[in-house]
Amino acid sequence: SVSSAFDFAPSLFPLSSTAQGYTALGAPSNPALDPTNALNGGSLEKNKSLTYLNGLSLVIGLIIGSGIFSSPSQVNKNAGSPGASLIVWAVAGVLAWTGAASYAELGGAIPLNGGAQVYLSKIFGEWAGFLFTWCAVTVLKPGSAAIIAIIFGEYLVRAAIGAEAVDASAWLNKGIALAGLVVVTALNCVSTKLGTRSADVFMFLKFLALLGVFVIGIVVAVTGLSYRGDANQDWKQQGWFDDTSHNISNWAVALYAGLWAFDGWDNVNYVTAEFKNPSRDLPRVIHTSLPLVILCYILANISYFLVLPSHVIESSNTVAVAFGSQVFGPVGALVLALFVSGSCFGALNATTFTSGRLVYAAGKEGYLPGIFGSIGLGKSHRAIRLHSSTTSPSKVPKKMVDWFADPDAGFFFTPISAMLLNAAITAVYILIGSFDTLVTFYGVAGYTFYFQTVLGLIILRVREPDLERPYKTWITTPIIFCCVSLFLLSRAVFAEPVQTLLVIAFMAVGLVVWFAWVGRRRGKERQRFRNMEGRSEKDVGWMFWKRWTT
Ligand code: ARG
Repeated sequence: SVSSAFDFAPSLFPLSSTAQGYTALGAPSNPALDPTNALNGGSLEKNKSLTYLNGLSLVIGLIIGSGIFSSPSQVNKNAGSPGASLIVWAVAGVLAWTGAASYAELGGAIPLNGGAQVYLSKIFGEWAGFLFTWCAVTVLKPGSAAIIAIIFGEYLVRAAIGAEAVDASAWLNKGIALAGLVVVTALNCVSTKLGTRSADVFMFLKFLALLGVFVIGIVVAVTGLSYRGDANQDWKQQGWFDDTSHNISNWAVALYAGLWAFDGWDNVNYVTAEFKNPSRDLPRVIHTSLPLVILCYILANISYFLVLPSHVIESSNTVAVAFGSQVFGPVGALVLALFVSGSCFGALNATTFTSGRLVYAAGKEGYLPGIFGSIGLGKSHRAIRLHSSTTSPSKVPKKMVDWFADPDAGFFFTPISAMLLNAAITAVYILIGSFDTLVTFYGVAGYTFYFQTVLGLIILRVREPDLERPYKTWITTPIIFCCVSLFLLSRAVFAEPVQTLLVIAFMAVGLVVWFAWVGRRRGKERQRFRNMEGRSEKDVGWMFWKRWTT
């Protein structure tokens, strides 16, 4: 059966005590992590449970989120005409597809959990993997959460109060976005199960919302209710390609907005090691899910264009509301607004869950101060665990102990400090950013690493031609991806200089942190490990490679 997209997640970054498996001395405390063990041996083996269908729901479930209900405005504004917008959507989809196919090759050749972090570490060295993690913690994860929260706020305010309120007060939207963030963070701090359980419900809402768009589009096309059939509307004069933008930077900005809606195509790469048959299923998952999503998005956009004039699509981030109200009046608007905000809330919940684990893993790894790699409520929580599990006495009242330490509920047995850090950075982005600015910001940062990783695939082909690659893409695939993302990145400087400089600044700080602090410590650890009896240089390499992957 297709289980929830989040079933896998608790095992992604195991919360048990020896998650990283290494003691301070650098010696493996967990035999499964011994560098001399076979690749993927031991602990990862027992988690090999994901199937093709799980993979499909993982990819599709993450990709379809806020974007298809919010990006059309920015795509249309910048591309200029409906026809140009559809081209942007198609190009964004194909770009995501080529990227995902390249990642599938990497996933087959390096069948470990962790995605880009692992590939970059293997190809360029650990500094590159660190830089990715650094930017994921500071920009990518909180940035994407902020975008989703903002869209959540806008749709909810529109549903509850009406369109005027949204336009009247940006702060009301931001307030609701922050409230959503607080609720989701609290939920995920209290219990892992609370967080993951609610995910399924919201996943369902999002499919209903997209289905709603299709159905309305079909109704309109069949009944002729469409704006396009109404001769009184002045926008009718706009042909499919009238007003197409001639500014290449605008096209780049439109592409970033489209790419946001397709983002998440690398999701299976984070859990490659947990697939029963990664080399067969990864490419299959990619080559089914991406064409499917591309088709859905193109159809949804055609629906939008059939029902609404361009200037309405461009006027807000809540195209689905305008869409519902055009066909079914206020009730239609309300229903769609509720479904989309539900879908965004679910996405926010899912991304909070994984971000917490990512920050936690970075804390464990020594990429961040150790506190972020801790579980639960710090000292008091440790006392509670001691009380319930050992003979040592504790001052904590028995009743509280039972409640906190209930093994089934697992209340507060979550990476709380990691989640709070993530929420704090997200809140800053919500406060200072808007959908349009954040989407470019996120895109520039994200595509820097996608580009680097796919370039790494080409480098790896040259450097290690004999590496076993169960799935090999057509070599033009990564080349196309690299060329288009290079174009995107180079235009960003002209199109959105502030966001681009910010991203560069974050990376520069990350590099300083690596060379001044984390990397130097890592060098010392390596040296210590090297000095241990009977370790070959190859073991040293293995050990440090495997560290990133568990
Ligand atoms: N495509 C998703 C959306 O439209 C966003 C995915 C965010 N990316 C991520 N890796 N979580 O909302």
